[in-house]
Amino acid sequence: MNLAEAVAARRSVRAFQDRAVPRDLVERAVSLAVQAPAPHHSSPWRFALLETPGDKKQLAADMGEAWRDDLNADGLPRDRIEAILSRSEGLLRSTPLLTVCCADMTRSHSYPDDRRRLAEWSLFAHSVGAALQIYMTALAESGVASCWISAPVFCRHQVQGTLSLPAGVEPHALVLVGYASPDYHPRPRPTPDPLAYIL
Ligand SMILES: Cc1cc2nc3c(=O)[nH]c(=O)nc-3n(C[C@H](O)[C@H](O)[C@H](O)COP(=O)(O)O)c2cc1C
Repeated sequence: MNLAEAVAARRSVRAFQDRAVPRDLVERAVSLAVQAPAPHHSSPWRFALLETPGDKKQLAADMGEAWRDDLNADGLPRDRIEAILSRSEGLLRSTPLLTVCCADMTRSHSYPDDRRRLAEWSLFAHSVGAALQIYMTALAESGVASCWISAPVFCRHQVQGTLSLPAGVEPHALVLVGYASPDYHPRPRPTPDPLAYIL
């Protein structure tokens, strides 16, 4: 598979076979991901891997509690909230491997003003995104499906607590990883016209 084929093979998948992903494939994807560009040669990427039913259930429950608070504050009806949370928890618990991708912010520079603190933080968020694209593309190249889930961004403190992350290690994304269900068909994407994106 060449690069264009691997990029096209990565599509968000949200239903998986009950089949573990070999550890060497995951470690290969991590070893490629950590060749992403990074600010100040900081190598800030950290990956928490959750495979046991207990770990996945705990993360799903803790993020679900935070989401419930947000949905209640938004005024959603109770039955709608429970339906949303139940679907999300079911997806997380049925995914063979959950990867929580983090940035080690102890590697960042300190600034006295908010403008530069936010700029510095965004550099690390960009770098996590760059690493994640490689991670998911490398998995796709190995025939393994994935999906980027933004939930940890909305409840960073809960996830830091659930995973007992070291101080300064900030969760940025959850990536679902597994072999795609044969009856799951990711949404097709037409071949892009580069001119539509170039200003
Ligand atoms: C920053 C980011 C956050 C995302 N969050 C979610 C999410 O919370 N749940 C989800 O199902 N998909 C999420 N996605 C996946 C997008 O929905 C998906 O990439 C998009 O629809 C394009 O489809 P494709 O990945 O199959 O090409 C996210 C993607 C990105 C880049």
